[in-house]
Amino acid sequence: MRGLYIHIPFCKRICTYCDFTKRVPKDNLMIKEYLKYLKEELFSYEKYFSSIETIYIGGGTPTLLDETDLTILLDMLKDFKNIKEYSIEINPETLTLDKVKILKKYGINRCSIGVESFDDNTLKILGRSHTKNDIYNAVKMLKDNGFTNINIDLIFAVPGQNISSIENDLKEFYKLDINHLSYYSLILEENTILYHKYKHNLFKPIDNEIEAKMYEFIINDLEKNDFKQYEISNFSKNNSESIHNKIYWENKEYIGVGLGASGYVDSTRYTNNNLLKEYYKKYRKTEEFIDKNTKFSEEMILGLRMLKGINIDFVNKKYDKDILNDFSELKKYVNNGFLAIDNGYLHLTKKGLLIGNDIFELFI
Ligand SMILES: C[S@@+](CC[C@H](N)C(=O)[O-])C[C@H]1O[C@@H](n2cnc3c(N)ncnc32)[C@H](O)[C@@H]1O
Ligand code: SF4
Repeated sequence: MRGLYIHIPFCKRICTYCDFTKRVPKDNLMIKEYLKYLKEELFSYEKYFSSIETIYIGGGTPTLLDETDLTILLDMLKDFKNIKEYSIEINPETLTLDKVKILKKYGINRCSIGVESFDDNTLKILGRSHTKNDIYNAVKMLKDNGFTNINIDLIFAVPGQNISSIENDLKEFYKLDINHLSYYSLILEENTILYHKYKHNLFKPIDNEIEAKMYEFIINDLEKNDFKQYEISNFSKNNSESIHNKIYWENKEYIGVGLGASGYVDSTRYTNNNLLKEYYKKYRKTEEFIDKNTKFSEEMILGLRMLKGINIDFVNKKYDKDILNDFSELKKYVNNGFLAIDNGYLHLTKKGLLIGNDIFELFI
């Protein structure tokens, strides 16, 4: 089983916090040219097509493509059989009824909407192009057209937010009656407008302690509202855990195509060029063979991100290790209540979720 990730690097404008590979397209010809190369790269992986079980179209903003270009994109993916989950990322203000109908026609069965917040002031700080109303319209259009598997992305620890703004965002989220939420804490990435402002003392980031309190509030509130946390930033209801994202977290292989995309195929991790001119000359920029030790480290870190945790016996046998003795710090974290062992699985506790990064350091 493999996943397929397709990157569409075009956005209407650039959000203040965004470090992803993206650009504002010069014109429609630029998008058409990109789709041509994307198709060529995609078909260079044709021999793997029969192993693909999930497709994820991300960005950038895939729904910035107009109806014609969206059809060109989805047409190149129409011959995949055995697809269990077919997702697309949506920016609320770019969705039209015609686009929703195209998504439905081509069999997309999971929509992930970049909402970030329901508060217009927070949206402004983040430089988003949508308003609260665009969010409601997008969700309504999707639901009216039979989409039931919907995720929204939210961000917390945005300058100006406090616990009561988080509470408000969650209230708005519950009203939408959606089964999946990815709730990220804001990361101040270098080379972003927000980071530049921070460096020039134009705002004060949220204090770590307050950020931890916000995260705790989020976890508890979602639990009270029947959402199961299954990964550090992901919560779901009614068995709607993302199959595609679990491929990443379970350290399985996936093909990534498009500008700046990364992939993991035949034990090799690769990253594509992130400048259009370079990408058109040569898709891949870097390649690294993943040896057994690196694979073990990745599997531990990714596995612990999931609330289910790591099957101790399975990992010990696979890597010829005795993790609890080889990494004696793990036992200390268990004794201090940051990690726990249940039914043979080593996993983060609620308390441990707050210091996940310290624990992951053991494997870097
Ligand atoms: C890859 S982005 C692209 C999706 C889509 N273009 C959008 O903006 O809605 C997916 C999600 O990552 C999250 N994200 C991106 N940059 C982030 C940052 N610096 N800190 C926290 N979350 C971030 C946002 O929640 C965003 O919706
Ligand atoms: S956050 Fe999304 S919409 Fe904003 S610039 Fe990044 S990819 Fe584009």
